[in-house]
Amino acid sequence: MTRRHPDPWRDADAQTNLEQMAAGLESRGRTPAQARLRRRFLRFIPVKAGDRVLEVGCGTGVVVRDLVTLVGRGGAVVGVDSSRLLLDRARRLCREAASRARVALRVGDGARLPFAASRFDSALAITVILHVADPLRVVREMARVTRSGGHVGVQDQDFGVVAVTHPDRELTDRIMHGVAAHIYAEPHSGRRLPGLLRSVGLEGVRLLTDVYQDTTLEPWTKTFLERRAERAVGFGIVNERTAARWLDGFTELVAQGAFVLTLNYYGAVGTKPN
Ligand SMILES: C[S@@+](CC[C@H](N)C(=O)[O-])C[C@H]1O[C@@H](n2cnc3c(N)ncnc32)[C@H](O)[C@@H]1O
Repeated sequence: MTRRHPDPWRDADAQTNLEQMAAGLESRGRTPAQARLRRRFLRFIPVKAGDRVLEVGCGTGVVVRDLVTLVGRGGAVVGVDSSRLLLDRARRLCREAASRARVALRVGDGARLPFAASRFDSALAITVILHVADPLRVVREMARVTRSGGHVGVQDQDFGVVAVTHPDRELTDRIMHGVAAHIYAEPHSGRRLPGLLRSVGLEGVRLLTDVYQDTTLEPWTKTFLERRAERAVGFGIVNERTAARWLDGFTELVAQGAFVLTLNYYGAVGTKPN
């Protein structure tokens, strides 16, 4: 029997809660502080009117819809994802956007992109590199399909830099660090992105560090913490009672107006040399 990888994004189509995962992407996409930091990164690259842009790991198409607004009628947006089921949702959710620019959504692996060299002005991957088996190979592929002078941009959270208020600090650290260590090969993926881009020969690498800040327990943050609690039980880090007590701790802080969660996002951009 093959053991399933603990990171559900490695093989979304094999998950029993795919509907919940897709809803989570959309919920994150709608969260104002998330939308701001995502769009700030797209401007930082920068994506311009008329560009041909590739997004690797497009999921339900949250970023594809932002990209359509930026590239406009003269531009084109191509989304690739290894999940056929998420792409089905992306096709539905991007229908309106596809009337405002050329949009193509394709099943494909970021480590073997189904495109000829130098086809795109920019190739992006947003909260994807953290999840892939071979980040170097994916970034090398992104550089291959980008034209000389074009940009490769990658943005990831960094699970070494989650700050959250809770009455039990030791328990919070045990759950947050423990779960991240079980799921990700490199929980500090975000801070390593500039080095990753340089290692595939990209030039003029720049970094934009941004912070997701939540003081009200947004629906996406709530789901994120609930999922961490559930996974902590699954990995044997805590029992169900402790996980429930941990979640109650956040609810109390929200009621007191004392809840804070911040999560660092690192966005790196490099230029393909001639
Ligand atoms: C956390 S989601 C991010 C989706 C989207 N970029 C966003 O920000 O809403 C990660 C996505 O990467 C996709 N993915 C994971 N490994 C992949 C690979 N090797 N090639 C292409 N897509 C991959 C997953 O199926 C999933 O849709």
